[in-house]
Amino acid sequence: MSFDLNKIPDQPGKIAVVTGANAGLGYETSLGLAQKGMKVIMACRNLEKAEQAKADIVKQAPGADLQTMALDLSRLASVKAFAQAYRDKYSTLDLLINNAGIMFSPYSKTEDGFEGQMAANYFGHFLLTSLLLDLLPDTPDSRVVTLSSIGHRRGTGVINFDDINAEKQYSRTDAYMQTKLACLMFSQELQRKLASAGRKTLSVAAHPGASDTELARHINPFLANILRYTVIPFVTHSPKNGALPTLLAALEPNVRGGDYYGPTGFREMKGPPGKATMSTYSQNQEMAAKLWDLSVQLTGAEYSF
Ligand SMILES: NC(=O)c1ccc[n+]([C@@H]2O[C@H](COP(=O)([O-])OP(=O)(O)OC[C@H]3O[C@@H](n4cnc5c(N)ncnc54)[C@H](OP(=O)(O)O)[C@@H]3O)[C@@H](O)[C@H]2O)c1
Repeated sequence: MSFDLNKIPDQPGKIAVVTGANAGLGYETSLGLAQKGMKVIMACRNLEKAEQAKADIVKQAPGADLQTMALDLSRLASVKAFAQAYRDKYSTLDLLINNAGIMFSPYSKTEDGFEGQMAANYFGHFLLTSLLLDLLPDTPDSRVVTLSSIGHRRGTGVINFDDINAEKQYSRTDAYMQTKLACLMFSQELQRKLASAGRKTLSVAAHPGASDTELARHINPFLANILRYTVIPFVTHSPKNGALPTLLAALEPNVRGGDYYGPTGFREMKGPPGKATMSTYSQNQEMAAKLWDLSVQLTGAEYSF
C-alpha cells in the first residue's frame, strides 16, 4: 500500500486527539492532521511547550484549528481529568492517536504505583482509550492509533507478568521495550474486542522506525553526541517521515483493524510507510487477553463495547 499524504482528501469537521503533540512525532502528526483540515487537540503534559508547538504549527499551516489541553499520562488522575475536560467540551472524536512516550528513563514509581515508562507509555493510554472510546462514531474512518516500536521485538520480548512494574529488577531498556510490546498487544486486543462487538471503529498500530527526536533525552549525552555525528544520520529519518506510518494508519481508507504500519526500508528503520513486522509473541491472543485483564485491574479502566 503506497501512501501519499497529499492524496488524502481534506477532513473538515473531524476531530483528533494527539497525545505528546508538542514534540517529535506527535508534533508532525498534529501538523499533518491540521493540514488536512482536522481540528487537533494537542494533549500535552507541559502547556507552555504545547502553546509554543501550536504557534509553530500555525505558522506552517495558517488557519490550523488546534487546541492545547493538559494531560499527564503518568498520572491516572490527570488522564481522568483530561477525559472529563474533553467530554465537557466535545461530544465526538474521530481519531485518538496514542503517541506520547518516554524512553530509557531511570527507575521511578508513579503515584499509582507503576514503573514510570509503563505508566506514561502504556497504562495511561490504556485508561485514556477506555474513557474516550464511546465518543468514536461507528465507522471505519474512526480510529485508535497506538504507537509501538521495532523495539517490541527486542528486550526480553515478553510481558513480565510476575513483575510488570519492575519492582524486583529494573532494566531501562527492557522496561521501554516491554511498554512498546504492551502497546502493540493492546492495539490488537482492542481490535478483537471492537470487532466481536460489531463495532466498525478500527484499532491500528504504527511505529516510526528510527527518528532523531527528543526521545533520546535519557541517553548519556556524550554517547548521544557520538551517535548523532556517526551512526544516526545513516539509520534514521526525519520526524516528518517518521510520522507517516501514524498518518497512514489514521487516514488511509484501505487500512484494516489490527494492521501494523512502519517504514519499509532496511530493518524498518526508515523508508516509505507500509506494513510492519509483528513478533510472534505480540500476536499471542492468550497473552494479550491476560495483559488486558491485568491492565483493567491495575488502572480501574471500564471498557464497554
Ligand atoms: N523516535 C523514535 O525513533 C521512535 C522509535 C520507536 C517508537 N517511538 C515512539 O514514538 C512516540 C513519540 O516519540 P518521539 O520520538 O516523538 O519522542 P519525543 O520527541 O520525546 O516526544 C514525546 C512526546 O511525549 C510526551 N510525553 C512524555 N511523557 C508524557 C506524559 N507522562 N504525559 C504526556 N505526554 C508525555 C513528551 O512531552 P514533553 O515534551 O513534555 O516531554 C513529548 O511531547 C513514543 O511513543 C515513542 O515510543 C519513537
